[in-house]
Amino acid sequence: MKFFLDTANLDEIRDVASWGILDGVTTNPSLCAKESVRFEDLVKEISRIVPGPVSVECVSEKSPDIISEARKLAKLAKNIAVKIPITIEGLKAIYALCQEGIMVNTTLIFSASQALLAAKAGAKFVSPFIGRLDDISEEGMALIEEIATIFDNYRITTEIIVASIRHPRHVVEAALIGADICTIPYSVMDKLVRHPLTDIGIEKFLKDWGKVKK
Ligand code: G3P
Repeated sequence: MKFFLDTANLDEIRDVASWGILDGVTTNPSLCAKESVRFEDLVKEISRIVPGPVSVECVSEKSPDIISEARKLAKLAKNIAVKIPITIEGLKAIYALCQEGIMVNTTLIFSASQALLAAKAGAKFVSPFIGRLDDISEEGMALIEEIATIFDNYRITTEIIVASIRHPRHVVEAALIGADICTIPYSVMDKLVRHPLTDIGIEKFLKDWGKVKK
């Protein structure tokens, strides 16, 4: 499974990139709004740090506008994937952009039918938001299972990015299903590494090392 970082923060991206496990980055307007760097400079710098796909969201709503905005975003760096919300206008734009070879990440996916349509239009990625479904008492991970089954049934190569991840268990369950990618906030990425028994074990080994005859 590939690990993307769900952030627009350069310090977080540089840090996780240094761990040697980072495959890409996803941003959205809310994440970019938290940063003080000018939008285009931010996107270029993220794309320089991370060689894998960097998702950047289009905010236009009509397909001709989405298409021209996406083309501009795609020119910022070779590894840009344009994020387009799933709507009818979005589908028209996804189809046109994919014909041009632009990587599209279809975002704000909340149903398997939306994922299937995005894949048919040629999207490279679909991003189902599981945490936001959990937030309204639905089962976000059940959506991942449905999409994975449908994509397997038809040998669809569109990759599933499990998004809106809230905790490490989401990552483990996505991996058990066989999702292609998890996009993970920095706080959860950090929690994935830690275990109290590891900390206790390190402390004990260090203490005992002090008693070893050298
Ligand atoms: O990648 C999508 C993600 O940023 C949404 O997460 O926590 O706002 O639901 P959240």
